[in-house]
Amino acid sequence: QAAAALLKETKSPAHSDDEDLAPMDWDNLGFGLVPTDYMYVMNCSKDEHFVRGRLNHYGNIELSPCSAVLNYGQGIFEGMKALRREDGRLFLFRPDQNAIRMKMGAERMCMPSPSIDQFIDAVKHTALANNRWIPPPGKGSLYIRSLLLGTGPVLGLAPASEYTFLIYASPVCNYFKEGTAPLNLYVEEEYNRASRGGAGGVKAITNYSPCLKAQARAKSRGFSDVLYLDSVDNKYIEEVSSCNIFIIKDGRILTPATNGTILPGITRKSIIEIARDLGYTVEERSIPVEELMEADEVFCTGTAVVLSSVGSITYRGNRVEYKTGTHSVSKKLLSTFMGIQTGHIEDKKGWMVEI
Ligand code: COI
Repeated sequence: QAAAALLKETKSPAHSDDEDLAPMDWDNLGFGLVPTDYMYVMNCSKDEHFVRGRLNHYGNIELSPCSAVLNYGQGIFEGMKALRREDGRLFLFRPDQNAIRMKMGAERMCMPSPSIDQFIDAVKHTALANNRWIPPPGKGSLYIRSLLLGTGPVLGLAPASEYTFLIYASPVCNYFKEGTAPLNLYVEEEYNRASRGGAGGVKAITNYSPCLKAQARAKSRGFSDVLYLDSVDNKYIEEVSSCNIFIIKDGRILTPATNGTILPGITRKSIIEIARDLGYTVEERSIPVEELMEADEVFCTGTAVVLSSVGSITYRGNRVEYKTGTHSVSKKLLSTFMGIQTGHIEDKKGWMVEI
C-alpha cells in the first residue's frame, strides 16, 4: 500500500498490490545484472536544481556521443541495498549516507546533485516499483545503483551543460565467485588505484576501469582480487578494487584512514561503529604492508561485498594465511551487522529505513 501511495503521488506506473515475487531461481543469485521493471530518471541543466523525477520502464538510454560522461568520464555512482525481512517489511540501509556521499562526489566532479531528500525519495520509489525483485529473506538483496552523469555535450574539457540522475536495480547475492569462502588477495605493486589530490576518495566512475588490468592478472593467477598500495611510497595498504580493507592484530582493529585516496565506505563506517560498540579498539591510520603480513585476521567491507573474510594475502611471493571461521572477530562483526539489517538485533542507531 505504501508503494502504491508513493507511486500514485508521482504519477508512477501502476503497480499491483499483490506481493508475488518475480520468477527467479532465488537460490542461485550471484552478482550479475538481472534487469528489473523500472528505473528512476531525473534531469537538470547546469546551474539549476534537479526538480522532478519519474519512473520509466527499465531500458537503454539515449546519450549524445559528445556527452561529458562518455568523453571525459564526468560521472559518479552509489550502491545500496534493499532487504526483505521475514515479516515482509522492506528496508534500506543508511540511504542518507549514500545521498551525502553523492553530494560530496558531485562537488568534486563539478556536477549539480539531488538533495538528500530527493535522493532518498528516488531510491524508495525505485525499490518499491521493483518490489517483486527484492529477494526473499536470506536469499540476497536488491542492489540499487544510482548514477549521476554529465549527459550534455562537451567537446573541449568543461563541465556538461546537462545532467542525469538515474537509478536502476538488480537482485544480487554474493559478490565474489568464492561465495562466502575466504578471499585470497594479491598485493599489487605495479599499479596504484588512487593518487594524492586525485579522486580516489569519491565514487567517480573513472576509479574503477583502471583496476581491471591488475584484477584480471591476479584472477588469471588464481587470486580473488588485488589489494592496492599508496602511490607515493608503495608501502601503505589502501583498498581492494571494489572494497575497503581491515586488519586485526591482538584484538585491535585497524583500517587505512580516509585521507583522500580511500573511499569512505558506508559499510566501513558502520563496521567501525559496531566494533567500537562491541568494545574493540579501532584505529584509522596508515598501515604498512609489513603490518598486514603479521595480522591475525583480515577482512574487506563494501556494499556489494558486505564483509568478506580474507584467507590469505600474497606479497612479493610470500603467502600469509589468516584466521577465518566461526570464532573469528570478523564473523562476530558480520553477524552483528547482518543482525541489524535483518531485524534480529535492535537497530539502536536508526540505520534501517523502512520503505
Ligand atoms: C559497491 O559495493 O556498491 C560498489 O560500488 C563496488 C562495485 C565495484 C560493485
